[in-house]
Amino acid sequence: MTKLRLAILISGRGSNMESILQSAEADDYPLEPALVLSNRPNAAGLKTAEGLGIQTKSVDHTLFDKDREAFEAAMQVALKESKIDIIALAGFMRILTPWFVNKWAGRLVNIHPSLLPKYPGLNTHLRAIDAGDAHAGCSVHWVTEGVDEGQVIDQAKVAIAAGETAASLAEKILPLEHALYPVALAKAARQITPR
Ligand code: GRF
Repeated sequence: MTKLRLAILISGRGSNMESILQSAEADDYPLEPALVLSNRPNAAGLKTAEGLGIQTKSVDHTLFDKDREAFEAAMQVALKESKIDIIALAGFMRILTPWFVNKWAGRLVNIHPSLLPKYPGLNTHLRAIDAGDAHAGCSVHWVTEGVDEGQVIDQAKVAIAAGETAASLAEKILPLEHALYPVALAKAARQITPR
């Protein structure tokens, strides 16, 4: 089986990244993690990836002042060097420009902690509770120019309990994210071809 070369973009803890890396150890997983890339050189997830023997790089966005495209051009060099076929955003906290998104159209996937199209953006857990929703969850979706607007690939949901807080809900949803992302990413991968 020809495996697609995967880059995972992170900014922090990297627990979703770790879940993908663990799934990718299976012989029949359709993706081969070729690079973990962070915009924060001290992201904890970089150490986790290194410990699992995955190549890591960081492109520190603070060195590019406010020039998002210059930051993304530097990421693009790293992605090309690693011959990446598909990118998974996993807690990557930079908004991507249309320039970058269009370069990776149909090859760029994100996980978002809400039942999209509800609650794109930040503070998703609190917004679901404040709205009185019965359920919350997470979505894996294709990335398009609008933030968290691309087509949903798969979702997982959980009931919001009485007295739920944003923290307790986030704690409940995170394991769902870890279960969902590797499976949804494999599903996405079946829709694309190697470059
Ligand atoms: C996850 O909840 C993800 O959905 C959100 O940020 C969090 C990242 O966690 N976008 P981790 O870095 O994968 O542990």
